[in-house]
Amino acid sequence: MNTHAHPLPATASASQPLSGRVRVPGDKSISHRSFMFGGLASGQTRITGLLEGEDVLRTGEAMKAMGARIEKHGDEWVIDGVGNGCLLEPSAPLDFGNAGTGARLTMGLVGTYDMATTFVGDPSLSKRPMGRVLAPLREMGVQVIDAAPSDRLPLTLRGPRRAAPITYRVPMASAQVKSAVLLAALNTPGTTTVVEPVMTRDHTEKMLKGFGAEIDVETDSDGVRHIRITGEGTLSGQTIAVPGDPSSAAFPLVAALIVPGSDIVIENVLMNPTRTGLIDTLLEMGADIEVLDRRDAGGEAVADLRVRHSHLKGTRVPPSRAPFMIDEYPVLAVAASFAEGETVMDGIEELRVKESDRLAAVARGLEANGVDCTEGEASLTVRGVPGGKGLGGGMVETHLDHRIAMSFLVMGLASHKSVSIDDRAMIATSFPEFMDLMTGLGAPIE
Ligand code: S3P
Repeated sequence: MNTHAHPLPATASASQPLSGRVRVPGDKSISHRSFMFGGLASGQTRITGLLEGEDVLRTGEAMKAMGARIEKHGDEWVIDGVGNGCLLEPSAPLDFGNAGTGARLTMGLVGTYDMATTFVGDPSLSKRPMGRVLAPLREMGVQVIDAAPSDRLPLTLRGPRRAAPITYRVPMASAQVKSAVLLAALNTPGTTTVVEPVMTRDHTEKMLKGFGAEIDVETDSDGVRHIRITGEGTLSGQTIAVPGDPSSAAFPLVAALIVPGSDIVIENVLMNPTRTGLIDTLLEMGADIEVLDRRDAGGEAVADLRVRHSHLKGTRVPPSRAPFMIDEYPVLAVAASFAEGETVMDGIEELRVKESDRLAAVARGLEANGVDCTEGEASLTVRGVPGGKGLGGGMVETHLDHRIAMSFLVMGLASHKSVSIDDRAMIATSFPEFMDLMTGLGAPIE
């Protein structure tokens, strides 16, 4: 079922070899945090390379509603922040659209303020669990004064006079939950500790340190991370160059691997090790991906990726890799559909609470296009067809999920018959340039 008011279908057909050099838009996780931390810090923050997708722009609007000044001058976003502890009460609900990261991190950021803040979102976001963020916030003294059943949006938070620092062990592998607690700690006296048994993307820790927060990370002998942050300090504006999003690079990357004869370069891709699980997996599957000119860009590793068509072989993706490629399973499943043999993806229960139930959405999409696959409670097994003979011909339901939309358009480029999606509109949440970038490489998508 599609719940979008004016769905815009799209179709991808068998492609000639893809070629060219491209740059994907800025990393979504770093872009959200740039707006949030810049809006909170004292003084000016200057951002280049920001992802101007709908999700991130919503975060910008939320920060403006709480007192930050945010303007675009040429290629640069310039933010005058309010100062840590000085966010203003928004006069209207904060609307995060489709964005889980924007909503959940902002709940942490403002939850500990002694003011009422209401969060709303689109039908996809309104179905997603917020209790995972509200549980630690409640321990810190935050009241949920109104919420839809089972702690869903729309919901309203009110912080205490003074929040309580806590020690919180994150019960699932979620950078959003970890980050919400760390952000709540910024407006909390004393030291808050987040215990992270399974490491997830570390952009919050790294960036907060850059903004001057008192934060340190210790990894114990069991590999458990202890992140300690002391609140009520000063954050100072920074200059940020946002690297290209590896989760967006994944689409042209997999397209080049599965379309015969392709040879492309994707420039300036973030190579933070908590984000490169897809590349590691594809290399194990025999992908021809060359990592060129690995360099440092403002504290993060980046590189250019040269990608050529490859004969992929099925693999077993270990559950331990899931946090490092969590958003890339849909497009990995597409790559696996063209690989020789079976690809088994285990330990991927978190896919069920993304913009859609991605495990089910991927399985239904693959089945609609003739791929033999098995959906488990927390696993997906795909039996590939090298060359894509007989694949395609289906219409895929995207369920308001940008990554389902892009993954299946990539699938159509190497399938025997074309692949259609019911709605391309949500692609604008994370990768507004997707259609132009792909057609620029030679992909027949319309
Ligand atoms: C994100 C964390 C991940 C990821 C999302 C972005 C972040 O979500 O799926 O796209 O920026 O912190 P979870 O924390 O729910 O795993």
